[in-house]
Amino acid sequence: MTILLGIETSCDETAAAVVQDGRVVLSNVIASQIDLHAQYGGVFPEVASRAHAEAIGVVVEQAMREANTRYDQLTAIAVTRGPGLVGSLMVGVNFAKGLSLATEKPLLPINHLEGHVYSLCLVQPYHEPSFPILVLIVSGGHTELLLMEAHGSYQRLGGTLDDAAGEAFDKVGRMLNLPYPGGPNIERVAKAGNAAAYNFPRVKLSDDSLDFSFSGLKTAVMREVTVQINSKHEAQQEKGARNKLQLRKDISVADAAASFQCALVETLVHKTVRAAKLHNVNEIWMAGGVSANTLLRDKMRSLSELPVRYPPLTLCTDNGAMIAAAAHYRLQAGMQGSLDFDVVPMWNLSKKTYEE
Ligand code: KG4
Ligand code: ZN
Repeated sequence: MTILLGIETSCDETAAAVVQDGRVVLSNVIASQIDLHAQYGGVFPEVASRAHAEAIGVVVEQAMREANTRYDQLTAIAVTRGPGLVGSLMVGVNFAKGLSLATEKPLLPINHLEGHVYSLCLVQPYHEPSFPILVLIVSGGHTELLLMEAHGSYQRLGGTLDDAAGEAFDKVGRMLNLPYPGGPNIERVAKAGNAAAYNFPRVKLSDDSLDFSFSGLKTAVMREVTVQINSKHEAQQEKGARNKLQLRKDISVADAAASFQCALVETLVHKTVRAAKLHNVNEIWMAGGVSANTLLRDKMRSLSELPVRYPPLTLCTDNGAMIAAAAHYRLQAGMQGSLDFDVVPMWNLSKKTYEE
């Protein structure tokens, strides 16, 4: 049996969780910074690091208390080493190193993307993975298509060439004057909209590659829904600055949101289903913040005959439980604890992820 404490601070959630055997969540505490960053319309790195530093002690203590676990009962401590914001990662890693020294428990440095993959092992009831599996990770920072051949073994098939899927949601959300983060808010207003109102581009659908590109879609939405404030008079009236872009008044936000969401989701689904056929996989897994999207879940299920699995909503966005779950399998594969490592802000998931 393993009992692992997982610590996650790579972006804008300070999170800690206790997980048993890589599949039973004993506690899962998440201090979100969404309200802090909403005023900037996106994550402000310096603000994020400071907020992590303020919250981390309390979050970890609460995770241990809610799991009814003492430090001497832990098998090990796991922490996100990367990818992510350098300052944010450092807060988590330094805290975890200190805790590891104080408790004499081994420290396991974990890849955040692998954490997202292992959020699928926390789905109840537990389902034994049937490899090979096609994994689509769609989050604020990443869009990755991976072939997972066994526990811990990944082949990268493709990814975004520009914006990540979640990033595109967040940017379009800002254009439509919706609150941050864009993803859940676009999904909310899109419910009342007509997805066929605008024919936004499904970029690279005809291309044989398994890469994605969302910047063209984002630009197409911008051209359609915004206008430039030209004159000084206009700027005064609109309380904006000259040459700034502004949402057109004759636009239906619901229609634009629904049409954008549909274009992005269709691109993701089309490529994922094609990759699944190409590599003859047994299952499709989706993880990361955007996998919370209902249209994405529904379209993936209806366009693929394979079992499509995704995490519960609370485990789609960043959390410590997924880091502890990934660490369980790393421990099984022989990973040793270490205090001698730095954060890795850019860190792909591949066969060589843990080789140095
Ligand atoms: O996985 P995550 O918490 O952070 C990263 O590792 O980047 O993902 C956050 C992203 C944000 O871009 C947010 O807009 C998006 O996930 N997101 C959604 C939904 N919920 C969160 N996108 C589309 N539909 C949703 N329901
Ligand atoms: Zn994430």
